[in-house]
Amino acid sequence: MRRREFLSTVGGAAVAAAIGQPASAAGAADPFCFCVAADPHCNDGPGKGMEDLGTGADRLMRVFEHIGALPADDRPDFLLIAGDLHLKGFLPLLPRFPLPVHVTAGNHESSVEDRKALREAFPQDFVRDGKPADYYSFVHKGVRFVGACTAGLGGEHIGTFTSENIQPRGQCEWLEGELSAPEARKVLFTHIPSEREGADREMHLGRNDSRWFNDLVRRTRPEAAFFGHLHRPTSTYRLGGTDVWQVRSCCWNFNGAPIGFLHVRVGPSGLAVREIITGAPRG
Ligand SMILES: [Fe+2]
Repeated sequence: MRRREFLSTVGGAAVAAAIGQPASAAGAADPFCFCVAADPHCNDGPGKGMEDLGTGADRLMRVFEHIGALPADDRPDFLLIAGDLHLKGFLPLLPRFPLPVHVTAGNHESSVEDRKALREAFPQDFVRDGKPADYYSFVHKGVRFVGACTAGLGGEHIGTFTSENIQPRGQCEWLEGELSAPEARKVLFTHIPSEREGADREMHLGRNDSRWFNDLVRRTRPEAAFFGHLHRPTSTYRLGGTDVWQVRSCCWNFNGAPIGFLHVRVGPSGLAVREIITGAPRG
């Protein structure tokens, strides 16, 4: 029987946890941890009431500092970053990252030049069938991680799976194949969230992409999906058999909400997700 729990507040920092059984109990992986951050906005200067936390680049490095302070048993194998990296500030940080990082493009990486720079910075990831691609997957300890590209051309805030700036053609067919791959456990991550009711709404995938995606997720039941883009406190909801996480930014959030990232433990009975807060605007 499915079990889902939320833990509330610990030590003044918002902490949420959800525990759910994977869509299929078969193929349980070795336990491991990973983390998810969103919207580091590394080009941003100090501001938003968090001048003491430095620039967007400094705030992303705070994520790694918090990861480094975790007990050995909680150390993640890698960090996913769900878009809006701001490449001018982000790419120079790569040599300082203390663990593997996998990223997706956000609407702030929507120029042809940025996509090329991103593919060149992560050549092992941004590959499909041996050729450069804007979307990719990898398998870690038996779990398939699927990094979709939902940011088209021109930086607009409504997302899409199909654009002149998402190469190669055929991402929807690819995603159908990825979510039907043999691994029992799958995790999806991308920048722009699906609209949960399939509505035409700002800051989400377009209406038809949302409806197609939601139906695909209901049919294929990945264990979790992680989105960025919203700059709001992390929220979660259930889409068929999948836990959807809308992850707060680790740089700034609307209405002065704190910044942070997610820690995920992959156990035999499901994912345990908790939030780690890295800062907040001055009161
Ligand atoms: Fe965005």
